[in-house]
Amino acid sequence: MRKESFSKPMNLTHHIFPRIQPHIHTWINGYGKNFMYWYGPRAQLVVTETELVKEIMNNRDKSYPKADTEGFLKKLLGDGLVTTEGEKWAKLRKLANHAFHAESLKNMTPAMISSAEMMLQRWKEQEGKEIEVFEEFRLLTSEVISRTAFGSSYLEGQDIFDMLRKLSIIISRNAFKVRIPFLSWLLKSGDDIESEKLEQGIRDSIIRIIAKKEKSMNGEVRNFGVDFLGLLVKANHDADEGNRITVQDVVDECKTFYIAGHETTTSLLAWTVLLLAIHTDWQEKARQEVLDLFGKEPPNSDGISRLKTIWGEDAQLFKPERFSEGVAKATNNNPAVFLPFGLGPRSCVGLNFATNEAKIALTMILQRYAFTLSPAYIHSPIVILTIRPKHGVQSRADQKQGQRDNFD
Ligand code: HEM
Repeated sequence: MRKESFSKPMNLTHHIFPRIQPHIHTWINGYGKNFMYWYGPRAQLVVTETELVKEIMNNRDKSYPKADTEGFLKKLLGDGLVTTEGEKWAKLRKLANHAFHAESLKNMTPAMISSAEMMLQRWKEQEGKEIEVFEEFRLLTSEVISRTAFGSSYLEGQDIFDMLRKLSIIISRNAFKVRIPFLSWLLKSGDDIESEKLEQGIRDSIIRIIAKKEKSMNGEVRNFGVDFLGLLVKANHDADEGNRITVQDVVDECKTFYIAGHETTTSLLAWTVLLLAIHTDWQEKARQEVLDLFGKEPPNSDGISRLKTIWGEDAQLFKPERFSEGVAKATNNNPAVFLPFGLGPRSCVGLNFATNEAKIALTMILQRYAFTLSPAYIHSPIVILTIRPKHGVQSRADQKQGQRDNFD
């Protein structure tokens, strides 16, 4: 069903649920909000009733573990923060909270700004022409996570990003293929063999990055620094066994953050630009807000937290005004009806990082350019880990009148 659904484009509407999850959409209509189905030998319970969603995600009695991760997805995420449970999860979550807490995020603002400047430098060559913004945002977010979490750059981590991307494509290609454990171990498919190579390649590259970090710090644990990789390496050397993590844990955590740290924000930015390119009245409102707060200056942490206009989107209609008095008001204080970053203890650890990054990038784009959607754009949302535009988002960026001198 999904393969067929993804094979053709759709009208330019927000009503993407029947396309993205055609089977769930059909079954909800037939069986109601909650139902069970069989995925090979395993029963799957689908719950869409908001009170139950809240109970499951808040997980107060710890009765709802995360689904077991296996196969290709396990090769991508390992046993890192997204997948692991119990004491190990608590240990890893503490490290990630520390690396991405409010004060650390402030220190990341300059790296986010200069990465966006690099992107806008490329755009100068493309002015008045078509720009495929999904690819641009992929490069931007890869640069940002490399610099802020790993003290490196996109180019240095490029092979890791490439291998993770190939693995993601294998995952989506096999998403609904039921695997029989013993048989798939005996008869390896082309994807099995390739994914094993990719997993090993990613591990080797990350081990090199870890070794470089250790070397640059002259083996002095106190010198490991405060970026995420520094904290992980430090935890690997912790004298207290209770706090210590293994090298494999460091590798899995790096994979998790390389992938979670950029895939999602790329899609967020690309869809936002698509919406603002269509709804140019909102684009103008957002630009006015940006200019009122920052003028021609680069964005700063205080101003970023005050940007409100375009944050939020409804499933069916683009009506950002519904969020004008905050998400709680728009959702009638029911956090389970709008949960882009999840809910409860397992909610997204990168929420503020992602929103800061997206606000900085959009602020800097809006300061310089007015953009419209290219006639070449084909609306074809698909799922490769996240919901993304199958053929990219082609848009045309024109200098805002009078902006050239200010930003050369
Ligand atoms: C627009 C951007 C993003 C969206 C929409 C998003 C969404 C989510 C959601 C829905 C969850 C919960 C998954 C679940 O309940 O199973 C989650 C968890 C997570 N996210 Fe994000 N995310 C974004 C950006 C990021 C970034 C930038 C990072 C890293 C810097 C990140 C790292 C993680 C991690 C590690 C978890 C697992 C947390 C845990 O289980 O303790 N995310 N994210």
